[in-house]
Amino acid sequence: MLDKIQALFDEVNSVAVSSKDDLEKFRIKYISRKGILNDLFEEFKTVANDQKRAVGQELNKLKNLAELQLKSFTEALEQGADESNNSRGLDLTLPVAPNFAGTIHPLTLTRQRVLEIFARMGFSHEDGPEVETDWYNFTALNFPEDHPAREMQDTFFVEKKDVQKDDVLLRTHTSNVQVRLMEHKKPPIRSLMIGRVYRNEAISARAHCQFHQIEGLYVDKKVSFKDLKDTLYHFAKEMFDKDTKIRLRPSYFPFTEPSAEIDISCFICKGSGCNICKHSGWVEIAGSGMVDPNVLINSGIDPEEYTGFAFGMGIERITMLRYGIKDLRLFFENDVRFLRQFEGA
Ligand code: DAH
Repeated sequence: MLDKIQALFDEVNSVAVSSKDDLEKFRIKYISRKGILNDLFEEFKTVANDQKRAVGQELNKLKNLAELQLKSFTEALEQGADESNNSRGLDLTLPVAPNFAGTIHPLTLTRQRVLEIFARMGFSHEDGPEVETDWYNFTALNFPEDHPAREMQDTFFVEKKDVQKDDVLLRTHTSNVQVRLMEHKKPPIRSLMIGRVYRNEAISARAHCQFHQIEGLYVDKKVSFKDLKDTLYHFAKEMFDKDTKIRLRPSYFPFTEPSAEIDISCFICKGSGCNICKHSGWVEIAGSGMVDPNVLINSGIDPEEYTGFAFGMGIERITMLRYGIKDLRLFFENDVRFLRQFEGA
């Protein structure tokens, strides 16, 4: 429907009216009760809910344009413009063709929203390197030497060294920033780390060799699992819907103990079952857990004195859920037909 509206912008803009007859034809074709705009507003009722906002905005712009055209044609004719002469080209008051300004990328929209929510809970924003050593990406995070994530099929290696922990690679997750942060800062630490990560995966609708993650870390005296749960519960309600519930499922990550996957109740079907939640009523949004004491020791923090929680989630995944996007590749292709749908979002 957006394509159709776009074509009509050009059409309405290029109409020339040189007589009252033309004017009436223009009115009947576009604006009358049987006109094209009316048909479009009928069709609009069938547009999917998640597209309504983008399509509605464009449709209203088109309606305004057609009405403005009608008004300026009428005025031009009333001012006694020569009926045989197309005076349109001289009317400097005519509206110009719509000029689309750039839009904020949907991944950036999600990133901004997440940062905003956690900033209100006192989380700072930290950066870390994308080209990383094995130490920060794996070893310091308590990955056993033979952990499958270290194998070539997952990790892009930049340089192999004599000692495994010195290997240089493209980070496979944002968890690498955890240890870097704890090395330099003493608790309390309450930070978000956001950025691009890389994995050697075949590109498809559900996987890509590059994507983005958000990592959270909170280390202080007496940080408990309840703090983790409360923080993520608050986040889920702010990010998705105030009635959102969360569910924690036991899981395993080398750098947390205990570990949990975080699911949220499906905010599309409210638990009754839909495609997004694969009819389970729940969708997974993050991995999390209490920072493993070995990771604290590797970062120079005494696990007898301090505890912490951490979590990590994919920005693409959250964005796909938020806007009902079904293909991951769209985020990286810069197709303006996709990006324009986020105008004003
Ligand atoms: N690094 C994990 C991944 O890429 C995600 C993750 C899980 C991050 C648990 C964490 C965590 O900080 O506690 O799959």
